[in-house]
Parts: sequence; structure tokens; C-alpha cells
Amino acid sequence: MNPFTYCNPVKVVFGAGRLAEAGAEAAKLGRRAFVVSYSDNSVKGTLARLGELFDAAGVAHEEFLEVVPNPPIEMVAVGVEKARAFGADLVVGVGGGSAMDAAKAIAAGVLYEHGDLWNMVYACHSNVTTQPPEKALPLMQIPTLPATGSEMNMCSVVSSLARKQKSYIWADCLFAKTAILDPELTYSLPPFQTACGGVDAISHVLEIFVNGQEKSDLLHEFQLGVIKTIIKDLPVVLANPTDADARAEIMWAATCGINGWASPGDAWTPIHQIGHVLTSHHGINHGSSLAIMMPPWMEYFKAKRPAPYERFEREIMPIPEFKAFIKRCGLPTTLSEKGVTEADIPGIVQGVKDVSFNADGVMSCIPPVTEADVYEVLRRAL
Ligand SMILES: [Fe+2]
Repeated sequence: MNPFTYCNPVKVVFGAGRLAEAGAEAAKLGRRAFVVSYSDNSVKGTLARLGELFDAAGVAHEEFLEVVPNPPIEMVAVGVEKARAFGADLVVGVGGGSAMDAAKAIAAGVLYEHGDLWNMVYACHSNVTTQPPEKALPLMQIPTLPATGSEMNMCSVVSSLARKQKSYIWADCLFAKTAILDPELTYSLPPFQTACGGVDAISHVLEIFVNGQEKSDLLHEFQLGVIKTIIKDLPVVLANPTDADARAEIMWAATCGINGWASPGDAWTPIHQIGHVLTSHHGINHGSSLAIMMPPWMEYFKAKRPAPYERFEREIMPIPEFKAFIKRCGLPTTLSEKGVTEADIPGIVQGVKDVSFNADGVMSCIPPVTEADVYEVLRRAL
């Protein structure tokens, strides 16, 4: 097992109906809560309930409902100004990864002292000039879409509209103080979003499983356990969205997949790195980008490093069946479906190189990923 340093200070309040404790939990962290979420109907009921709970607990609150997918740093900057104007001493993210990541970036941005907020972002791995934030306002996270695990990790994925890039902020201060995981909040999720979240969570552990260290029995069991749980329960909730047990299993699996437990000592996410470029260049949503890229990645790298792929096929299912599973969940499995052609591939490869290749000219993982590898995997994904 690789050496690692591990610390996860997030207090998790988990269980159906536990949103009811949000006011009391918020009151332990601050008196003026800046609530970061979306303006659409998906979270309206939750936000209204949250407002009542905050009122009852004596926590003043202001909503910032300008979050959009792949939160742009430009939107974060607006949030920072509004949070300052409100005198926020607590930031609350309500929604999926976009809302929680925006909440993190705003919480750090309010106290950021190193100029342009984009300086917080690891936007060029081969020439790191990043100044990660050292402090942030206290954070509370309330996920309504199990997927990114943002509620229990120190990462915020953000985009830059001006730069057409998507990358991440990574800093200790981005850990939430408290995360409220109430599976009831996910019962009304549309099937497409449910499937995108499930596939995203699978990808978080699958990428470590196939690209990470070889000798790590317990960690591999954790990773396969997350994958097995989601593959078992995703069809259940797609058929019956209010299945309480399956919704709870998926929610906790998504959190555990990327809160550090399943992968200490490994940090490789090469498929995500390609996916981020598909999002920033071609507008393909996060879950779909991974749904498209995972099977061809697996087919291609199985020839280079057979062991983890053969184990996946033995313990989970053959790769073609996995692709069929993704399709059955209602997600795209080819780039062509999203209008990407072979002529687009060089630009995508360049985008991956710009953000994710290291100073040696490869993407770090086992084995290291070359420009030719990225090209070939994308070609197979057409
Ligand atoms: Fe992801």
C-alpha cells in the first residue's frame, strides 16, 4: 500500500428526514448564512424548508441562486461580492456538485488575498503557479444529487468561461464543517440526473482501481464495493425513484467513493481529465462525458495493463456489458451522439495536454498516459 496522509474533518449527518436538523447545525457555525444554489424548480422545496429551519434557529440567510453547471469563476466572483455585502459568516451549498463546488469557491473567495480568483485553480499541471486558498468561511453542504462527493472532500471543480478551461481548487480549507446527507432530497431527481450521478460516482473509484497502485487489497475491495453498490441500486431507483434503501445506498456510496477512504495514496483521474475538456469545449455534461469515455478507455488500456481490467470483468461484468449497462441507464456511450467528430479530436487532446499533462509530457498514472493514448481512446469513443 502506498504511504498517505489522511484527514477528513467533515461531520456527516446522514439519514432520511435529517434535513430537519439543518437549522440547529447551521447555528453552531454562524449567524448569517449565504445559501448557494440554483434558480430552477428542482431545489425550490428544499430551499423553502431550509429558510424556515434557519428562521427557527435564528440564523439570518440570503439566497444566491445563480449557480449553473460547471460553475464559472466569473459567477463565483459575483457570489463573493454578494456574500461580502451580506456579511456572511457561513456558506451553505444546496444541490449537486456545481452548487457545492460554487459554495466552496465563494467561501474561499471571500477571504482570498492573492488577486484573481482563478489563481486558486490548478489550471496547468506542467507549470503550477497556483496559489490555493488558505482560509474560507465555514461551510455546510446539503447534497441533493449524489455524485461528486463534494460534501465530504476538499475539492472544488470550477470553469473559466474566458479561458474555456475546467479544473479544480484543492485546499484543506474547502472541507465542509458539516454535511447533511438526507436521501429523501434525492427522491425527486429526474432519471437522467440520477444516472449521471451514479456513473460519475462509479468513475471516481473505477479510475483509481484501473490506474492506481497494484498492491492494496482493502482499497480495491472498497473501490469494487462502491461500484457494485451503484450498479445494483441504480436500476432500482430508475425503476422506483422513492426506494428509500436504494437511494440511501447510492448517496453514501457516492460520498465514500471520493472522500478519501477508497483511494488514499492514489490520485489518478485521467478519464475525468478528458471529460473536463469534453465539457469545456463541447458542452457535454459531466456524467455523460464519463459514460462515453469509460468503456473505450477500459478496452484500450486492458491491453497495456490487463490485471485490474480482468478483475473488473471477473467481479463486476465484462466491459461490453458495462457499456450496455450505461446505455440502459439512459446515457450516451459515443461522442458521435453528442456531435463530436474525428476532426475535433486534436483540439480535445490539446485541451487535455494544456491542463493535465505534467512537465514530463504525460498524464500521471499507471501506466503514464501519452498524447497518442488520449487520441486513440477518443477515436475509439466516436
Ligand atoms: Fe466526477
